[in-house]
Amino acid sequence: MTVKHYLQFSDFTQDEYVYLVQRTAELKRRFKAYETWHPLHDRTLAMIFEKSSTRTRLSFEAGIFQLGGHAVFLNTKDTQLGRGEPVEDAAKVISRMVDIIMIRTFGQDILERFAANSRVPVINGLTNEYHPCQVMADIYTYIEERGNGEDVSAIEGKTVAWVGDANNMSYTWIQAARVLGFHLNIATPAGYALDEQLIDPQDKPFYTVFEHPMDACKGAHIVTTDVWTSMGYEAENEVRMAAFKDFKVTADMMAHAAADAVFMHCLPAHRGEEVDAEVIDGAQSVVWQEAENRLHVQKAIMEYLLRGRFE
Ligand code: CP
Ligand code: NVA
Repeated sequence: MTVKHYLQFSDFTQDEYVYLVQRTAELKRRFKAYETWHPLHDRTLAMIFEKSSTRTRLSFEAGIFQLGGHAVFLNTKDTQLGRGEPVEDAAKVISRMVDIIMIRTFGQDILERFAANSRVPVINGLTNEYHPCQVMADIYTYIEERGNGEDVSAIEGKTVAWVGDANNMSYTWIQAARVLGFHLNIATPAGYALDEQLIDPQDKPFYTVFEHPMDACKGAHIVTTDVWTSMGYEAENEVRMAAFKDFKVTADMMAHAAADAVFMHCLPAHRGEEVDAEVIDGAQSVVWQEAENRLHVQKAIMEYLLRGRFE
């Protein structure tokens, strides 16, 4: 039997996102109403972290608990993976003991090798290349803020502006644009352009590259950015600070966006670097809702991978 994983945004179809967004709304409603719903009772989630985390760790751990299951946190440094046990061997062992696995690691290839040897579903909790759970939470947040709260088609035909690094978040937004039918405007500094090798040719009609961030923001319904130095790239920090200085989201940029535009950031943020405080702490910012929605989106993903659809 083939096991279904969630390793990148394009692993789910538009039809699956239609279901998952509705399901997220239902799971969030049940939680807020103190309704018990334990479809994953007696199930265990292993969470493997090779990089730091606040939101991802907490939301997966609270999420599996709310669905009736249990989480085990594994920091790779404390496991045999940190002492050179092959990823393939670890996957074979861990997936015989738990029911579902979330991994945050460096290269997407590591995640893929793990998944190829796992008997149970594997979820990408962030790699250098992709962060699909975060973008799904961001899109769900947009549906809540500017749609009816459960119909994913509210994002169709909209424009999302990405200002900053060509990183795991931007490559995931590119995949999302094709799968869900919106357009992405991308402005990255010289020397930090998108790596075409990471982009599926069929995604190319769904994004446009701009030299100036202000132009990318024009008319956008979502303006989003991320740290200038992602985890794993710390050695480049000083050079990046200089290269990215004109790629900070400002109130001026927000004024060029659509009148009802929202500002998004996956967090953690650095005020005064990639975004001005008046934007991230301002009225158009939905960053706290994005963080909260990680919890409910990931419950929908785990429930779906293990139990399929509830309709
Ligand atoms: N946005 C996000 O994934 O946050 P953490 O690094 O805190 O998990
Ligand atoms: N691009 C950032 C996201 C952190 C959640 C990083 O990879 O560090």
